[in-house]
Amino acid sequence: MNSQSIHFRLIAWYAGVLLLVLLGFGAFTYTTLRFFGNQVLREAMAHRAQQIADLLSSDAAAKDPAYVAREIVKRYDPVTNDRFVRVSRADGKVLFLSSAPIDRSFVPEELPPWTSGRNGTASYQVTAPEGTRLLVATQRVPVRNETFLVEVGGTLTANARLLHRLLMTLLLGLPVVLGVVILGGYILTKRALQPVQTMMRGAQEITLRHLSRRLPTLHGDDEIAHLATVLNQMIARLDESFQNTARFTADASHELRTPLTIIRGELEAILLGQKLEPELRDTVASLLEEAERLVRIVEGLFALSRLDTGEAQTERVRFDLAKLAETTAEQMCLLAEVKQIELVYETATPVEIEADRSRLKQVVVNLLDNAIKYTPEKGRVSLAVRAQNGTAFMEVSDTGPGVSEAALPHLFERFYRADEVRSRKIDGAGLGLSIVHSICLAHGGSVSVDNISPTGCHVTVALPKAQ
Ligand SMILES: Nc1ncnc2c1ncn2[C@@H]1O[C@H](COP(=O)(O)OP(=O)(O)OP(=O)(O)O)[C@@H](O)[C@H]1O
Ligand SMILES: [Mg+2]
Repeated sequence: MNSQSIHFRLIAWYAGVLLLVLLGFGAFTYTTLRFFGNQVLREAMAHRAQQIADLLSSDAAAKDPAYVAREIVKRYDPVTNDRFVRVSRADGKVLFLSSAPIDRSFVPEELPPWTSGRNGTASYQVTAPEGTRLLVATQRVPVRNETFLVEVGGTLTANARLLHRLLMTLLLGLPVVLGVVILGGYILTKRALQPVQTMMRGAQEITLRHLSRRLPTLHGDDEIAHLATVLNQMIARLDESFQNTARFTADASHELRTPLTIIRGELEAILLGQKLEPELRDTVASLLEEAERLVRIVEGLFALSRLDTGEAQTERVRFDLAKLAETTAEQMCLLAEVKQIELVYETATPVEIEADRSRLKQVVVNLLDNAIKYTPEKGRVSLAVRAQNGTAFMEVSDTGPGVSEAALPHLFERFYRADEVRSRKIDGAGLGLSIVHSICLAHGGSVSVDNISPTGCHVTVALPKAQ
Protein backbone atom coordinates (compact mmCIF):
# COMPACT_ATOMS: atom_id res chain seq x y z
CA MET A 1 0.00 0.00 0.00
CA ASN A 2 1.28 3.48 -0.84
CA SER A 3 2.28 5.20 2.42
CA GLN A 4 1.38 8.61 0.96
CA SER A 5 -2.19 7.64 0.05
CA ILE A 6 -5.15 9.06 1.96
CA HIS A 7 -6.22 5.46 2.43
CA PHE A 8 -3.03 4.53 4.30
CA ARG A 9 -2.78 7.76 6.28
CA LEU A 10 -6.37 7.58 7.54
CA ILE A 11 -5.98 4.00 8.73
CA ALA A 12 -2.53 4.66 10.25
CA TRP A 13 -3.86 7.72 12.12
CA TYR A 14 -6.90 5.97 13.59
CA ALA A 15 -4.99 2.78 14.43
CA GLY A 16 -2.26 4.87 16.12
CA VAL A 17 -4.77 6.87 18.16
CA LEU A 18 -6.63 3.72 19.15
CA LEU A 19 -3.36 2.00 20.16
CA LEU A 20 -2.43 4.95 22.41
CA VAL A 21 -5.93 5.07 23.95
CA LEU A 22 -5.95 1.32 24.61
CA LEU A 23 -2.42 1.37 26.07
CA GLY A 24 -3.30 4.34 28.30
CA PHE A 25 -6.55 2.76 29.38
CA GLY A 26 -4.81 -0.57 30.07
CA ALA A 27 -2.04 1.05 32.13
CA PHE A 28 -4.58 3.10 34.10
CA THR A 29 -6.79 0.08 34.81
CA TYR A 30 -3.80 -2.03 35.84
CA THR A 31 -2.34 0.48 38.30
CA THR A 32 -5.74 1.42 39.73
CA LEU A 33 -6.69 -2.21 40.26
CA ARG A 34 -3.37 -2.97 41.94
CA PHE A 35 -3.65 0.05 44.18
CA PHE A 36 -7.23 -0.63 45.28
CA GLY A 37 -6.64 -4.38 45.64
CA ASN A 38 -3.78 -3.70 48.08
CA GLN A 39 -5.80 -1.00 49.79
CA VAL A 40 -8.75 -3.33 50.45
CA LEU A 41 -6.46 -6.05 51.83
CA ARG A 42 -4.55 -3.52 53.95
CA GLU A 43 -7.76 -2.18 55.47
CA ALA A 44 -9.08 -5.67 56.22
CA MET A 45 -5.79 -6.64 57.89
CA ALA A 46 -5.67 -3.38 59.86
CA HIS A 47 -9.20 -4.06 61.04
CA ARG A 48 -8.23 -7.52 62.28
CA ALA A 49 -5.12 -6.10 63.97
CA GLN A 50 -7.32 -3.59 65.77
CA GLN A 51 -9.66 -6.38 66.89
CA ILE A 52 -6.72 -8.40 68.23
CA ALA A 53 -5.40 -5.26 69.95
CA ASP A 54 -8.80 -4.95 71.66
CA LEU A 55 -8.54 -8.59 72.77
CA LEU A 56 -5.10 -7.90 74.27
CA SER A 57 -6.37 -4.92 76.21
CA SER A 58 -9.44 -6.80 77.55
CA ASP A 59 -9.80 -7.89 81.19
CA ALA A 60 -10.11 -11.52 80.16
CA ALA A 61 -6.58 -11.36 78.72
CA ALA A 62 -5.27 -9.99 81.96
CA LYS A 63 -6.72 -12.92 83.92
CA ASP A 64 -5.90 -15.70 81.45
CA PRO A 65 -2.67 -15.41 79.32
CA ALA A 66 -3.90 -18.17 76.94
CA TYR A 67 -7.14 -16.31 76.26
CA VAL A 68 -5.85 -14.21 73.35
CA ALA A 69 -4.30 -17.17 71.48
CA ARG A 70 -7.47 -19.20 71.90
CA GLU A 71 -9.69 -16.37 70.71
CA ILE A 72 -7.53 -15.60 67.67
CA VAL A 73 -7.71 -19.21 66.47
CA LYS A 74 -11.42 -19.42 67.23
CA ARG A 75 -12.49 -16.13 65.67
CA TYR A 76 -10.10 -15.68 62.71
CA ASP A 77 -8.96 -19.23 61.95
CA PRO A 78 -5.65 -18.16 60.26
CA VAL A 79 -4.86 -21.65 58.98
CA THR A 80 -8.02 -21.97 56.88
CA ASN A 81 -8.06 -18.31 55.83
CA ASP A 82 -4.38 -18.22 54.75
CA ARG A 83 -3.64 -15.53 57.32
CA PHE A 84 -0.48 -14.73 59.19
CA VAL A 85 -0.92 -13.55 62.80
CA ARG A 86 1.95 -12.76 65.14
CA VAL A 87 1.72 -11.14 68.56
CA SER A 88 5.03 -10.26 70.16
CA ARG A 89 6.34 -8.25 73.05
CA ALA A 90 8.56 -5.18 72.75
CA ASP A 91 11.65 -7.28 73.51
CA GLY A 92 10.84 -9.49 70.50
CA LYS A 93 9.48 -12.46 72.40
CA VAL A 94 6.68 -13.99 70.36
CA LEU A 95 3.51 -14.61 72.35
CA PHE A 96 1.45 -16.01 69.51
CA LEU A 97 2.29 -17.19 66.02
CA SER A 98 -0.29 -18.67 63.68
CA SER A 99 0.36 -22.07 62.10
CA ALA A 100 1.14 -22.52 58.42
CA PRO A 101 -1.89 -22.14 56.15
CA ILE A 102 -3.46 -25.17 54.47
CA ASP A 103 -2.03 -24.30 51.04
CA ARG A 104 1.49 -24.07 52.56
CA SER A 105 2.10 -20.87 50.67
CA PHE A 106 4.30 -19.61 53.52
CA VAL A 107 5.73 -20.78 56.84
CA PRO A 108 5.06 -18.16 59.58
CA GLU A 109 8.22 -19.07 61.52
CA GLU A 110 10.33 -18.12 58.50
CA LEU A 111 8.96 -14.58 58.23
CA PRO A 112 11.50 -12.12 59.71
CA PRO A 113 10.49 -10.05 62.71
CA TRP A 114 9.31 -6.55 61.94
CA THR A 115 11.47 -3.84 63.44
CA SER A 116 10.47 -0.40 62.26
CA GLY A 117 7.29 1.56 62.98
CA ARG A 118 6.25 3.34 66.12
CA ASN A 119 2.83 3.76 67.60
CA GLY A 120 -0.35 3.47 65.58
CA THR A 121 -0.97 1.22 62.55
CA ALA A 122 1.41 0.75 59.66
CA SER A 123 1.85 -1.94 57.05
CA TYR A 124 4.67 -3.61 55.20
CA GLN A 125 5.11 -6.12 52.45
CA VAL A 126 7.31 -9.16 52.77
CA THR A 127 8.18 -12.06 50.49
CA ALA A 128 8.26 -15.49 52.03
CA PRO A 129 11.10 -17.88 51.05
CA GLU A 130 8.41 -19.83 49.13
CA GLY A 131 7.94 -16.81 46.92
CA THR A 132 4.58 -15.76 48.29
CA ARG A 133 4.16 -12.07 48.87
CA LEU A 134 2.31 -10.94 51.97
CA LEU A 135 0.87 -7.63 53.02
CA VAL A 136 1.09 -7.26 56.79
CA ALA A 137 -0.74 -4.64 58.88
CA THR A 138 0.86 -3.82 62.23
CA GLN A 139 -0.45 -2.31 65.38
CA ARG A 140 1.38 -1.42 68.59
CA VAL A 141 -0.79 -1.96 71.65
CA PRO A 142 0.21 -0.51 75.02
CA VAL A 143 -1.31 -2.64 77.77
CA ARG A 144 -0.55 -1.70 81.34
CA ASN A 145 3.31 -1.48 81.54
CA GLU A 146 4.00 -3.36 78.33
CA THR A 147 3.74 -2.68 74.57
CA PHE A 148 2.66 -5.49 72.32
CA LEU A 149 3.11 -5.67 68.56
CA VAL A 150 0.25 -7.21 66.60
CA GLU A 151 0.92 -8.25 62.98
CA VAL A 152 -1.85 -9.54 60.73
CA GLY A 153 -1.04 -10.43 57.14
CA GLY A 154 -2.69 -11.88 54.08
CA THR A 155 -1.23 -13.12 50.81
CA LEU A 156 -1.28 -10.94 47.70
CA THR A 157 -1.61 -14.05 45.51
CA ALA A 158 -5.26 -13.47 44.59
CA ASN A 159 -4.53 -9.85 43.65
CA ALA A 160 -1.50 -10.87 41.62
CA ARG A 161 -3.57 -13.52 39.80
CA LEU A 162 -6.25 -10.96 38.97
CA LEU A 163 -3.64 -8.49 37.66
CA HIS A 164 -1.99 -11.22 35.62
CA ARG A 165 -5.32 -12.12 34.01
CA LEU A 166 -6.02 -8.48 33.25
CA LEU A 167 -2.59 -8.10 31.65
CA MET A 168 -3.12 -11.21 29.53
CA THR A 169 -6.57 -10.02 28.43
CA LEU A 170 -5.11 -6.65 27.43
CA LEU A 171 -2.15 -8.17 25.61
CA LEU A 172 -4.30 -10.63 23.69
CA GLY A 173 -7.23 -8.26 23.16
CA LEU A 174 -5.12 -5.37 21.89
CA PRO A 175 -3.96 -6.99 18.61
CA VAL A 176 -7.47 -8.33 18.00
CA VAL A 177 -9.09 -4.91 18.46
CA LEU A 178 -6.36 -3.25 16.37
CA GLY A 179 -6.79 -5.89 13.66
CA VAL A 180 -10.55 -5.36 13.55
CA VAL A 181 -10.09 -1.57 13.41
CA ILE A 182 -7.49 -1.75 10.61
CA LEU A 183 -9.56 -4.20 8.58
CA GLY A 184 -12.75 -2.21 9.12
CA GLY A 185 -10.95 1.03 8.30
CA TYR A 186 -9.44 -0.52 5.20
CA ILE A 187 -12.82 -1.72 3.91
CA LEU A 188 -14.59 1.54 4.79
CA THR A 189 -11.99 3.89 3.29
CA LYS A 190 -11.63 1.68 0.24
CA ARG A 191 -15.37 1.90 -0.29
CA ALA A 192 -15.39 5.63 0.40
CA LEU A 193 -12.51 6.26 -2.03
CA GLN A 194 -13.82 3.91 -4.72
CA PRO A 195 -15.43 6.82 -6.65
CA VAL A 196 -12.04 8.56 -6.75
CA GLN A 197 -10.49 5.46 -8.36
CA THR A 198 -13.36 5.37 -10.87
CA MET A 199 -12.80 9.05 -11.65
CA MET A 200 -9.06 8.49 -12.06
CA ARG A 201 -9.62 5.69 -14.55
CA GLY A 202 -12.17 7.82 -16.40
CA ALA A 203 -9.80 10.81 -16.46
CA GLN A 204 -6.94 8.70 -17.83
CA GLU A 205 -9.05 7.84 -20.86
CA ILE A 206 -9.82 11.48 -21.62
CA THR A 207 -7.15 12.79 -23.95
CA LEU A 208 -7.20 15.61 -26.46
CA ARG A 209 -8.73 13.17 -28.92
CA HIS A 210 -11.43 12.01 -26.54
CA LEU A 211 -12.56 15.30 -25.09
CA SER A 212 -16.17 14.37 -25.84
CA ARG A 213 -15.89 11.75 -23.09
CA ARG A 214 -16.87 12.61 -19.53
CA LEU A 215 -15.97 11.32 -16.10
CA PRO A 216 -18.46 8.77 -14.77
CA THR A 217 -21.33 10.51 -12.98
CA LEU A 218 -21.37 9.58 -9.30
CA HIS A 219 -24.52 9.09 -7.32
CA GLY A 220 -24.91 10.86 -4.04
CA ASP A 221 -24.44 14.37 -2.79
CA ASP A 222 -20.94 14.23 -1.35
CA GLU A 223 -17.79 16.23 -2.15
CA ILE A 224 -16.48 13.63 -4.61
CA ALA A 225 -19.72 13.67 -6.63
CA HIS A 226 -19.50 17.49 -6.72
CA LEU A 227 -15.87 17.29 -7.81
CA ALA A 228 -16.84 14.94 -10.66
CA THR A 229 -19.54 17.40 -11.79
CA VAL A 230 -17.15 20.37 -11.65
CA LEU A 231 -14.43 18.46 -13.53
CA ASN A 232 -16.95 17.42 -16.17
CA GLN A 233 -17.97 21.05 -16.63
CA MET A 234 -14.29 21.95 -17.03
CA ILE A 235 -13.78 19.19 -19.62
CA ALA A 236 -16.88 20.42 -21.47
CA ARG A 237 -15.39 23.94 -21.63
CA LEU A 238 -12.05 22.52 -22.82
CA ASP A 239 -13.86 20.44 -25.42
CA GLU A 240 -15.75 23.45 -26.68
CA SER A 241 -12.65 25.62 -26.91
CA PHE A 242 -10.69 22.83 -28.64
CA GLN A 243 -13.53 22.30 -31.11
CA ASN A 244 -13.69 26.05 -31.77
CA THR A 245 -9.96 26.18 -32.51
CA ALA A 246 -10.12 23.14 -34.78
CA ARG A 247 -13.20 24.52 -36.55
CA PHE A 248 -11.51 27.89 -36.99
CA THR A 249 -8.44 26.24 -38.57
CA ALA A 250 -10.67 24.11 -40.79
CA ASP A 251 -12.72 27.12 -41.91
CA ALA A 252 -9.66 29.32 -42.42
CA SER A 253 -7.77 26.71 -44.45
CA HIS A 254 -10.91 25.91 -46.43
CA GLU A 255 -11.42 29.57 -47.24
CA LEU A 256 -7.74 29.96 -48.22
CA ARG A 257 -7.81 27.02 -50.64
CA THR A 258 -9.86 28.69 -53.38
CA PRO A 259 -7.91 31.95 -53.66
CA LEU A 260 -4.63 30.04 -53.45
CA THR A 261 -5.70 27.67 -56.21
CA ILE A 262 -6.65 30.67 -58.34
CA ILE A 263 -3.27 32.36 -57.68
CA ARG A 264 -1.45 29.18 -58.58
CA GLY A 265 -3.49 28.74 -61.77
CA GLU A 266 -2.95 32.33 -62.81
CA LEU A 267 0.81 32.11 -62.20
CA GLU A 268 0.99 28.88 -64.22
CA ALA A 269 -0.95 30.56 -67.02
CA ILE A 270 1.44 33.53 -66.99
CA LEU A 271 4.44 31.24 -67.16
CA LEU A 272 3.02 29.11 -69.97
CA GLY A 273 1.29 31.74 -72.11
CA GLN A 274 3.45 34.80 -72.32
CA LYS A 275 6.86 35.64 -73.63
CA LEU A 276 8.44 37.03 -70.45
CA GLU A 277 11.66 38.75 -69.75
CA PRO A 278 14.00 36.08 -68.21
CA GLU A 279 14.20 38.06 -64.96
CA LEU A 280 10.42 38.36 -64.64
CA ARG A 281 10.04 34.67 -65.56
CA ASP A 282 12.32 33.74 -62.67
CA THR A 283 10.29 35.91 -60.31
CA VAL A 284 7.00 34.37 -61.47
CA ALA A 285 8.46 30.87 -61.21
CA SER A 286 9.61 31.60 -57.66
CA LEU A 287 6.17 33.02 -56.82
CA LEU A 288 4.58 29.87 -58.20
CA GLU A 289 6.86 27.75 -56.04
CA GLU A 290 5.85 29.70 -52.93
CA ALA A 291 2.18 29.49 -53.91
CA GLU A 292 2.52 25.72 -54.23
CA ARG A 293 4.16 25.59 -50.82
CA LEU A 294 1.29 27.59 -49.37
CA VAL A 295 -1.22 25.28 -51.01
CA ARG A 296 0.52 22.28 -49.44
CA ILE A 297 0.51 23.91 -45.99
CA VAL A 298 -3.13 24.88 -46.26
CA GLU A 299 -4.04 21.38 -47.47
CA GLY A 300 -2.12 19.90 -44.55
CA LEU A 301 -3.80 22.19 -42.03
CA PHE A 302 -7.19 21.44 -43.53
CA ALA A 303 -6.56 17.70 -43.30
CA LEU A 304 -5.38 17.99 -39.68
CA SER A 305 -8.29 20.14 -38.53
CA ARG A 306 -10.77 17.78 -40.16
CA LEU A 307 -9.13 14.88 -38.34
CA ASP A 308 -9.27 16.86 -35.07
CA THR A 309 -12.97 17.54 -35.35
CA GLY A 310 -13.58 13.92 -36.24
CA GLU A 311 -15.14 14.76 -39.61
CA ALA A 312 -12.61 12.73 -41.54
CA GLN A 313 -13.45 9.36 -40.07
CA THR A 314 -16.64 8.69 -41.95
CA GLU A 315 -15.56 6.36 -44.72
CA ARG A 316 -14.57 2.84 -43.65
CA VAL A 317 -14.04 0.28 -46.36
CA ARG A 318 -12.27 -3.05 -46.41
CA PHE A 319 -9.22 -3.18 -48.66
CA ASP A 320 -5.75 -4.69 -49.03
CA LEU A 321 -3.14 -2.43 -47.45
CA ALA A 322 -0.31 -4.33 -49.17
CA LYS A 323 -1.83 -3.60 -52.58
CA LEU A 324 -2.43 0.06 -51.73
CA ALA A 325 1.18 0.43 -50.58
CA GLU A 326 2.48 -1.23 -53.72
CA THR A 327 0.51 0.95 -56.19
CA THR A 328 1.40 4.10 -54.25
CA ALA A 329 5.07 3.13 -54.28
CA GLU A 330 4.87 2.57 -58.05
CA GLN A 331 3.37 6.04 -58.47
CA MET A 332 6.21 7.57 -56.47
CA CYS A 333 8.91 5.73 -58.38
CA LEU A 334 9.68 8.78 -60.50
CA LEU A 335 10.45 10.86 -57.43
CA ALA A 336 12.97 8.25 -56.34
CA GLU A 337 14.45 7.91 -59.80
CA VAL A 338 15.28 11.60 -59.92
CA LYS A 339 17.63 11.06 -56.96
CA GLN A 340 18.73 7.64 -58.21
CA ILE A 341 17.26 6.13 -55.09
CA GLU A 342 16.38 2.45 -55.20
CA LEU A 343 12.77 2.11 -54.06
CA VAL A 344 12.14 -1.46 -52.95
CA TYR A 345 8.76 -2.89 -52.21
CA GLU A 346 8.87 -6.10 -50.20
CA THR A 347 5.75 -7.96 -51.27
CA ALA A 348 4.05 -10.35 -48.95
CA THR A 349 0.58 -11.81 -48.61
CA PRO A 350 -2.47 -9.48 -48.77
CA VAL A 351 -3.20 -7.65 -45.48
CA GLU A 352 -6.84 -6.59 -45.22
CA ILE A 353 -7.77 -3.60 -43.12
CA GLU A 354 -10.94 -1.59 -42.66
CA ALA A 355 -10.17 2.10 -43.07
CA ASP A 356 -10.49 5.29 -45.03
CA ARG A 357 -8.62 4.42 -48.24
CA SER A 358 -7.63 7.91 -49.30
CA ARG A 359 -6.30 8.74 -45.81
CA LEU A 360 -4.22 5.56 -45.77
CA LYS A 361 -2.85 6.43 -49.18
CA GLN A 362 -1.84 9.78 -47.71
CA VAL A 363 0.04 7.93 -44.94
CA VAL A 364 2.04 5.95 -47.54
CA VAL A 365 2.69 9.09 -49.61
CA ASN A 366 3.87 11.14 -46.60
CA LEU A 367 6.20 8.41 -45.35
CA LEU A 368 7.71 7.65 -48.77
CA ASP A 369 7.98 11.37 -49.45
CA ASN A 370 10.01 11.84 -46.25
CA ALA A 371 12.18 8.80 -46.93
CA ILE A 372 13.01 9.91 -50.47
CA LYS A 373 13.35 13.56 -49.46
CA TYR A 374 15.79 13.01 -46.58
CA THR A 375 17.83 10.19 -48.17
CA PRO A 376 20.88 11.33 -50.16
CA GLU A 377 21.29 10.37 -53.81
CA LYS A 378 21.93 6.72 -54.68
CA GLY A 379 20.39 5.65 -51.39
CA ARG A 380 17.80 2.98 -50.76
CA VAL A 381 14.21 3.18 -49.51
CA SER A 382 12.21 0.08 -48.67
CA LEU A 383 8.54 -0.40 -47.94
CA ALA A 384 7.06 -3.54 -46.39
CA VAL A 385 3.59 -4.56 -45.26
CA ARG A 386 2.98 -7.59 -43.03
CA ALA A 387 0.45 -8.89 -40.56
CA GLN A 388 1.06 -10.26 -37.09
CA ASN A 389 -1.43 -11.26 -34.36
CA GLY A 390 -4.38 -9.27 -35.68
CA THR A 391 -2.28 -6.17 -36.43
CA ALA A 392 -1.23 -4.86 -39.81
CA PHE A 393 2.28 -3.36 -39.90
CA MET A 394 3.63 -1.05 -42.55
CA GLU A 395 7.32 -0.21 -42.35
CA VAL A 396 9.31 2.36 -44.29
CA SER A 397 13.10 2.31 -43.95
CA ASP A 398 15.74 4.41 -45.63
CA THR A 399 19.49 4.84 -45.71
CA GLY A 400 19.31 8.55 -44.90
CA PRO A 401 20.89 10.33 -41.93
CA GLY A 402 18.17 9.31 -39.43
CA VAL A 403 16.80 11.60 -36.74
CA SER A 404 18.69 12.96 -33.72
CA GLU A 405 17.70 11.47 -30.33
CA ALA A 406 16.58 14.91 -29.13
CA ALA A 407 14.20 15.31 -32.07
CA LEU A 408 12.63 11.84 -31.91
CA PRO A 409 9.92 12.67 -29.30
CA HIS A 410 8.83 15.80 -31.21
CA LEU A 411 8.48 14.43 -34.75
CA PHE A 412 4.69 14.24 -34.58
CA GLU A 413 4.26 17.81 -33.38
CA ARG A 414 2.76 20.22 -35.88
CA PHE A 415 5.24 22.38 -37.82
CA TYR A 416 8.14 20.58 -36.13
CA ARG A 417 11.18 20.07 -38.34
CA ALA A 418 14.21 18.30 -36.93
CA ASP A 419 17.69 19.62 -37.55
CA GLU A 420 16.76 23.15 -38.63
CA VAL A 421 19.81 23.81 -40.82
CA ARG A 422 19.51 20.64 -42.89
CA SER A 423 15.72 20.79 -43.05
CA ARG A 424 15.73 24.37 -44.32
CA LYS A 425 17.48 23.24 -47.47
CA ILE A 426 14.83 20.59 -48.01
CA ASP A 427 11.34 21.85 -48.69
CA GLY A 428 8.66 21.03 -46.15
CA ALA A 429 6.33 22.51 -43.55
CA GLY A 430 6.65 19.97 -40.75
CA LEU A 431 3.08 18.71 -41.10
CA GLY A 432 3.56 15.36 -42.89
CA LEU A 433 4.21 13.20 -39.83
CA SER A 434 1.53 14.98 -37.73
CA ILE A 435 -1.00 14.06 -40.42
CA VAL A 436 0.26 10.44 -40.42
CA HIS A 437 -0.02 10.38 -36.62
CA SER A 438 -3.56 11.80 -36.61
CA ILE A 439 -4.74 9.37 -39.29
CA CYS A 440 -3.25 6.38 -37.42
CA LEU A 441 -4.88 7.43 -34.14
CA ALA A 442 -8.22 8.03 -35.87
CA HIS A 443 -8.04 4.41 -37.09
CA GLY A 444 -7.20 3.03 -33.66
CA GLY A 445 -3.56 2.48 -34.60
CA SER A 446 -0.17 4.02 -33.87
CA VAL A 447 3.02 5.18 -35.55
CA SER A 448 6.60 5.21 -34.26
CA VAL A 449 9.97 6.34 -35.58
CA ASP A 450 13.38 4.95 -34.71
CA ASN A 451 16.87 5.01 -36.14
CA ILE A 452 18.58 2.06 -37.73
CA SER A 453 22.26 1.31 -37.74
CA PRO A 454 24.59 2.17 -39.31
CA THR A 455 22.45 4.96 -40.69
CA GLY A 456 18.82 5.46 -41.58
CA CYS A 457 15.33 6.00 -40.36
CA HIS A 458 12.66 3.39 -39.73
CA VAL A 459 8.98 4.28 -39.43
CA THR A 460 6.43 1.68 -38.30
CA VAL A 461 2.68 2.09 -38.68
CA ALA A 462 0.47 -0.37 -36.79
CA LEU A 463 -3.24 -0.69 -37.58
CA PRO A 464 -5.87 -3.20 -36.49
CA LYS A 465 -6.47 -5.87 -39.12
CA ALA A 466 -9.98 -6.32 -40.54
CA GLN A 467 -12.00 -8.99 -38.69
N1 LIG B 1 12.99 9.58 -43.22
C1 LIG B 1 13.48 10.60 -42.53
N2 LIG B 1 14.81 10.74 -42.35
C2 LIG B 1 15.31 11.77 -41.64
N3 LIG B 1 14.55 12.71 -41.04
C3 LIG B 1 13.21 12.62 -41.17
C4 LIG B 1 12.61 11.56 -41.90
N4 LIG B 1 11.26 11.72 -41.85
C5 LIG B 1 11.06 12.83 -41.13
N5 LIG B 1 12.20 13.37 -40.72
C6 LIG B 1 12.39 14.58 -39.91
O1 LIG B 1 11.14 14.83 -39.27
C7 LIG B 1 10.70 16.14 -39.53
C8 LIG B 1 9.18 16.16 -39.64
O2 LIG B 1 8.75 15.43 -40.73
P1 LIG B 1 7.41 15.85 -41.45
O3 LIG B 1 7.12 14.90 -42.52
O4 LIG B 1 6.38 16.04 -40.41
O5 LIG B 1 7.74 17.30 -42.01
P2 LIG B 1 8.50 17.72 -43.32
O6 LIG B 1 8.82 16.52 -44.13
O7 LIG B 1 9.61 18.56 -42.88
O8 LIG B 1 7.43 18.63 -44.02
P3 LIG B 1 6.11 18.15 -44.80
O9 LIG B 1 6.00 16.70 -44.64
O10 LIG B 1 5.03 18.89 -44.15
O11 LIG B 1 6.34 18.55 -46.20
C9 LIG B 1 11.37 16.52 -40.81
O12 LIG B 1 11.57 17.90 -40.88
C10 LIG B 1 12.70 15.78 -40.73
O13 LIG B 1 13.63 16.57 -40.03
MG1 LIG C 1 7.26 15.14 -44.64
